[in-house]
Amino acid sequence: MGRKNIKIGLFGFGCVGFGLYEALQKTPSLKTNIKRICVKTKNKQRPILNEHFTFDKNEILFDNEINTVVELIDDADAAFEIVKTALQNGKAVVTANKKMIAEHFTELLDLQKKHNVPLLYEAACCASIPIIRNLEEYYDNDLLESIEGIVNGSTNYILTNTSLKNISYNEALKEAQEKGYAETNPLLDVAGFDAKYKLIILIAHAFGIVTSPENVFNIGIDKLGELELNYAKEKGYKIKLIAFAEKKEDGKIVSFVLPKFINKNDKLHSIDDVFNAVKTKSYFSDTQFFIGKGAGAYPTASAVLSDISALTFDYRYEYKKLNNVDSLENDNKVFLKILLRYDLNSIDELKDYFIELNESYQNFNSGYIIGVISLKRLKFVSTISNISVVLFDVVKQVEFVNKRNLNKSLEVA
Ligand code: HSE
Repeated sequence: MGRKNIKIGLFGFGCVGFGLYEALQKTPSLKTNIKRICVKTKNKQRPILNEHFTFDKNEILFDNEINTVVELIDDADAAFEIVKTALQNGKAVVTANKKMIAEHFTELLDLQKKHNVPLLYEAACCASIPIIRNLEEYYDNDLLESIEGIVNGSTNYILTNTSLKNISYNEALKEAQEKGYAETNPLLDVAGFDAKYKLIILIAHAFGIVTSPENVFNIGIDKLGELELNYAKEKGYKIKLIAFAEKKEDGKIVSFVLPKFINKNDKLHSIDDVFNAVKTKSYFSDTQFFIGKGAGAYPTASAVLSDISALTFDYRYEYKKLNNVDSLENDNKVFLKILLRYDLNSIDELKDYFIELNESYQNFNSGYIIGVISLKRLKFVSTISNISVVLFDVVKQVEFVNKRNLNKSLEVA
């Protein structure tokens, strides 16, 4: 089969855009070239000649010679407008913008179908790990049961470097920014939003369920404090920000993003710095483990490059699993064993929200509770009090030892 010629219009020339430019220079066999690059800021020193650039998006979007738009800008709303117009104009699109995809999944599916053009986004999840194409193609028939992973490089870098090198949270964040790992708004990384956007994309390709960001609960690493970090050290755990999705027997999906205590026997324990990893569990192949750099110019550009190469063979996602009627599990039926730390300005009876209590402690200004709580109550508690949460594990209802309050009608139950 002959390879299609790709003429690219590139949006964005930041860390990943320049990484892609260099990667394309080093892979002449791809027979692909960038015709024009659209950037926002006019008076900026750039490493290549000015003649390559335009400040007018229409010079790319309405150029008939350009058959592929590569979108690598930061602003998710502007990115959506660019991607939408490109698809409407019959151009294939490659993007790394997870926020844009997660927020507009259904519209993007419709646009691909209506205009019969491919949209590829391997770089949007875990940068260099080819996880989307694996979920889409390899697990086409095998029945996936769960995915769990470290899907944000910046937070893993911060957690690793604050615990192993003893540098402060702010210093580690600054390093992650300098290395080009963090989002322009780093709150997206540290508060778990970036991981959630990626999880939404993974859920669509793993289980065929399209959901939106407001339906998936996320707590990040920004509220973690000495108590949880010391607790982890004492027990030989590491804390990692985990994205989790599991298909229950009735087809319902349990999903969330939370910091989690990871013990030494867990493969995720050794995944440090900017590395990401995804564990899949499926009926026939059992557990598999994918590892790779999850952020940075070249690791992200490598996935964009792979998508461009796939386009030369007319590859597109077929979304074969999308007709499934399964949906997200009711939060009232998801039970989590957690450590919850609170300050005393929080509401008094936090313990009452727990279904099982294993340990609790309180001094004059703060306290912690270890126990089992439903996802619904945890969501509620997180909106009314200043808390930090670390997950031990998802708990099956039958495993409860000392059931309390299961039938008690709390405001949110
Ligand atoms: N800010 C993201 C991260 C970039 O740290 O993982 C890669 O998606």
